[in-house]
Amino acid sequence: MVSASSVLDRVLVLEMVRVTEAAAIAASKLIGRGDEKAADHAAVEAMRAALNELPMDGTVVIGEGERDEAPMLFIGEKVGSAQGSGPKIDIALDPLEGTTITAKAGPNALAVLAIAEQGGLLNAPDVYMQKLAIGPGYADDVIDLARSPTENVTSLARAKGVQPNEINACVLDRPRHEAVIAELRALGCGITLIPDGDVAGVIAVTDPDTTIDIYMGSGGAPEGVLAAAALRCVGGQIQGRLLFRNDDERGRAHRWGIDDLDRIYRLDDMAKGDCIFAATGVTDGSLLKGVKRRRSFISTESIVMRASSGTVRRVTGEHHKLA
Ligand code: FBP
Repeated sequence: MVSASSVLDRVLVLEMVRVTEAAAIAASKLIGRGDEKAADHAAVEAMRAALNELPMDGTVVIGEGERDEAPMLFIGEKVGSAQGSGPKIDIALDPLEGTTITAKAGPNALAVLAIAEQGGLLNAPDVYMQKLAIGPGYADDVIDLARSPTENVTSLARAKGVQPNEINACVLDRPRHEAVIAELRALGCGITLIPDGDVAGVIAVTDPDTTIDIYMGSGGAPEGVLAAAALRCVGGQIQGRLLFRNDDERGRAHRWGIDDLDRIYRLDDMAKGDCIFAATGVTDGSLLKGVKRRRSFISTESIVMRASSGTVRRVTGEHHKLA
């Protein structure tokens, strides 16, 4: 049997872009149409069909929800054309990261996919996760989720050789982040408040062009794992702690074998070994341009990166037969 790692190496890297392209193109028909569900549904159907063409024995570990709540791409669903014979691959996906953004034609909606060898991605329940991320080049102890925002910004500023008021943070614009934002304002930090889309928000810390130094705040745990897969490829640090709002969510975590509910997950706990991350822009954003439906073709921009080789490829597509 072909080993999982050689398939990751030779076949799946660029094939993954076809999958995220398909989802992004399908969702793009609904950009600005005010219908989040229709946009998500279109992306899910297209991603599932494209995933089933890939020669692998894949299992969705981060998906559209648990089996009883998601008809397609649910956690545990088997995908790929080589069930039982191909390499066993774990898959984390979000066919449309930013459903509201897409419905409102806002920035940074993405179609996202990450894969790893079996066991390489954290099986995170669909609860919130407190997240903290910085770009590459810093020592491991520069940030710590157990510390306050002030302590983390001060420590990062010291490591960067700047004052705390020269640090730029990215935070999801939510009432629950009032206290974090107040602390950052008191330090004089720049804050990029994003309406949605914290996968792109976390990845932004790795891109010097964004000038964002640190990502803080809570968002979806599945999105945390997807962002961790990207950082594993491109460098940087992320820490996450699952947040539970009620007993039902705590019970769900226990069913998933998570006993320590306060655990701080580091990058290697969320994405380990060789993994590949791919994304295609749905709407224009800091990471990628969105899908453009032109007169005679559709254009796409995607990124695909691989942990073991450290390769980052940007792929532009012109889809003439789809227009
Ligand atoms: P959807 O695409 O599922 O709408 O998620 C968008 C998003 O902004 C994520 O990027 C983020 O992790 C999460 O929602 C935040 O959740 P909430 O909107 O409940 O604050």
